[in-house]
Amino acid sequence: MILCANPRAAYLEQKAAIDACVLRVLESGRYVLGPEVTAFEAEFAAYIGVAHGIGVANGTEAIVIALKAAGIGAGDEVVTTAHTAVATVAAIELAGATPVFADIEPDYFTLDPARVERVLSPRTKAILPVHLYGQAADLSALLELARRHGLTLIEDCAQCHGATYDGRRLGSFGALACFSSYPTKNLGAVGDAGAIVTNDASLAERCRLIREYGWAERYVSHIPGQNSRLDEIQAAILRVKLGRLDEGNARRQALAAFYDGALAGGDLVLPKRRPRSTHVFHLYVARSVARDQTLSRLRDAGVGALIHYPLPVHLQRAYKGRIRGADALPETERAAREVLSLPMYPELSQSEAATVVRALGPRKEST
Ligand SMILES: Cc1ncc(COP(=O)(O)O)c(C=O)c1O
Repeated sequence: MILCANPRAAYLEQKAAIDACVLRVLESGRYVLGPEVTAFEAEFAAYIGVAHGIGVANGTEAIVIALKAAGIGAGDEVVTTAHTAVATVAAIELAGATPVFADIEPDYFTLDPARVERVLSPRTKAILPVHLYGQAADLSALLELARRHGLTLIEDCAQCHGATYDGRRLGSFGALACFSSYPTKNLGAVGDAGAIVTNDASLAERCRLIREYGWAERYVSHIPGQNSRLDEIQAAILRVKLGRLDEGNARRQALAAFYDGALAGGDLVLPKRRPRSTHVFHLYVARSVARDQTLSRLRDAGVGALIHYPLPVHLQRAYKGRIRGADALPETERAAREVLSLPMYPELSQSEAATVVRALGPRKEST
């Protein structure tokens, strides 16, 4: 079976270094928010090109804490996409704020700035674009919109570690940016982990406080907080993996180029690259109008293709009928019907990638 993602292969690739750092932490006696977390925060912030990093327990809480740190909560609207992991929307509600949906650009699957503008209201406080599948949303238009309307822009970078826009890493554009290091992510831990980055020292300080009960010092809460501490073992592993992130992304890009070349002219609509951007292919997502047939051909050949995401957030039982903007998401709904993700991870071999291509059958004859 060829998996769609394979975190075990990533572990085996760096087994000696990962085993050694886990032992180092076990021996140290310091297991939560210690020197490994501090070092990871500094190294990750430097990698993204921002001043501050805050390690947190997962990507969902990264978004919750970023929103709270920015003062966004009850009564405030946050415009985002319904074509995302449900976590993006769950996090907005966990922060006490109200999600509002805008439709996506069909070419890139990310928030359409013109659609965002249409749903703004006097209660809108923030825009939360998701840089989906590994490449940027239309940041220049969204940043301009945020500036014009006095809104905070917070980036959901769960799927785009290392990708760039206008030569700068994603995560360095918003007031705050939120990363997930769930094991399958481009920078994946071996459990749950996440990070927030920002250039703003006071926002960074608020994130740090909220992450641990609002404590400015032990047992003394200055603001209301929660527990979203990052483990030392996860931080140590993320430091090891950060050293190979660019290499892993380059391999993902090479595999994507192979799929592009081998599948061009066939039945699938292949992923488009946004101009002025690099795509790090967290997922290689194509459109197929006959998706069920395509998926069963892949399944028959032992290829584990997946759908990201089969049911848009606004149509899920937990959210249906109660989120503003949900009645005008035709591109979101079409994407949910058509997308499929081919196997994509740095350790995927050339012969496995060739098997995926063969399973998709011969190209359409050109006319
Ligand atoms: C776009 C997006 N946002 C947020 C999250 C939430 O991250 P986590 O699973 O670490 O809570 C994920 C990952 O699942 C994601 O893909």
